[in-house]
Amino acid sequence: MEWTRETRYRAYADWSAETLLKLQAQAANSQYQLGYHIRPSSGLLNDPNGFSYFNGQWHVFYQSFPFGAAHGLKSWMHLVSDDLVHWKDLGLALAPDTKFDSHGAYSGSALPVDDKLFLMYTGNHRDQDWIRHPFQLGAWMDQAGQITKLDEPLITQPAHTTDHFRDPQVFKHRDLYYVVLGAQDKETKTGKISLFSFKDLKEFTDLGYLEFTEAEMGYMIECPNLIFVDDKPLLVFCPQGLDKDVVAYDNIYPNMYLLGEDVQLNKAKFEAGDNQIQNLDDGFDVYASQAFNTPDGKAYLISWVGLPDVSYPTDEENWASCLSQVKELSLKDGKLIQRPVVSMADLREKGISLQTAEKVNAKQQIIAESGEQYELKLTLDTDQNGTLHLAGNDDLSQSLKLEFSTGKDAYLTVSRADIGAQFATEFGTTRTILLPDQKALDLEIFIDHSLCEIFVNGGEHVITLRFFAEAGNKQIALTSPTEAALNYRGTFWKLKSI
Ligand code: FRU
Repeated sequence: MEWTRETRYRAYADWSAETLLKLQAQAANSQYQLGYHIRPSSGLLNDPNGFSYFNGQWHVFYQSFPFGAAHGLKSWMHLVSDDLVHWKDLGLALAPDTKFDSHGAYSGSALPVDDKLFLMYTGNHRDQDWIRHPFQLGAWMDQAGQITKLDEPLITQPAHTTDHFRDPQVFKHRDLYYVVLGAQDKETKTGKISLFSFKDLKEFTDLGYLEFTEAEMGYMIECPNLIFVDDKPLLVFCPQGLDKDVVAYDNIYPNMYLLGEDVQLNKAKFEAGDNQIQNLDDGFDVYASQAFNTPDGKAYLISWVGLPDVSYPTDEENWASCLSQVKELSLKDGKLIQRPVVSMADLREKGISLQTAEKVNAKQQIIAESGEQYELKLTLDTDQNGTLHLAGNDDLSQSLKLEFSTGKDAYLTVSRADIGAQFATEFGTTRTILLPDQKALDLEIFIDHSLCEIFVNGGEHVITLRFFAEAGNKQIALTSPTEAALNYRGTFWKLKSI
């Protein structure tokens, strides 16, 4: 399929059922297909949208182009869950079927109000001259899942932004409603977060740009979220074109966060104190993460594992991307912690205890039968150097490598240079984080066929990445630069599909 403007924006009704079925079969039969993460039943998935708790269930939607691995005419697909782990796919929820969202029902959020879920999203409209008009739209979902779109846009493009004005997050703070939006300032062409108050869910007031940093935030910000973690405000956002001297990052576009001390929304002020803007994920592929607060004040986050303007090996199979597992956010010693949700443990089959083998050589096989869908918890003792290989072939010439040093100048480097199909190599094949010196290293690794999520030291860092290993490469092994045995202990679980 050639992705011309015509094919990208062809009406959904003009695609045949046969084409869709073929695409679904292709995605389902892929050797890279995931077993326990949200993935598209066909075509391309991108941002999570409308992540919320409503009517006794968890809801998440995602940006979808169901007809191929391309950023075409977007809609919202809907899933529900009782535990944030097992998701039921309810299919298409918001179609691009009005004049205001004619070129895509773009990203947005959801907020329960009384017995309905309020959805707020960007309608992408292009006029005859292909000029973009972003409309901020609303819709109500009732308890039966019926969605009714509002007739008129809630917010149109302000005079002070360009047409890059999208991704509304609607939230309630101290009994008042607000909306933050990603924007590009018209005059300076820099990335901004727009803030509106939304009185009684009826009347919008433009409170201007949220003040949260002196630094220039690239040329555009997408997908901003403002939530509260243990009562501290947290901004999660994607500044495109951010100068790497402001915050270092390796991916084409970063997903950043900034923890605050306080926020004064009426003054559009986010006070960060001494906190710095940081990468939300230290891996290769996380973008457009969405977070929300539950009624009891917990904070959950879910991410698109994929990046704009990057091609993935599954594009050839006409499908692309997935969502991360849900992460629970908290603070520890003033630092953001991301943890798997408790129900992830329900996916575990019988655990197998692991520990340093008695007889060792330079290569220590950790477990013989690993499969492609598992959780591996491993503690590597202090003062060691070595490499943990995942999805390796027999002689480990191919594997996903986790190189670690737990002595002085401790670090962890993840390399996907020697594993299967290579992609996005212009953005580097390794990612490195620095670790506390002389401390044991705790890893919780989740593998789902072509997705790897690594929680480091209890969630102080998360390293998320896609990898595309050759079929049958399943070895998990440790190698050491010396003949010395590496000391470790841990547990391995195969994980069930959802
Ligand atoms: C981020 C993004 C959003 C937009 C959506 C369109 O990945 O570009 O800004 O709303 O994707 O699918």
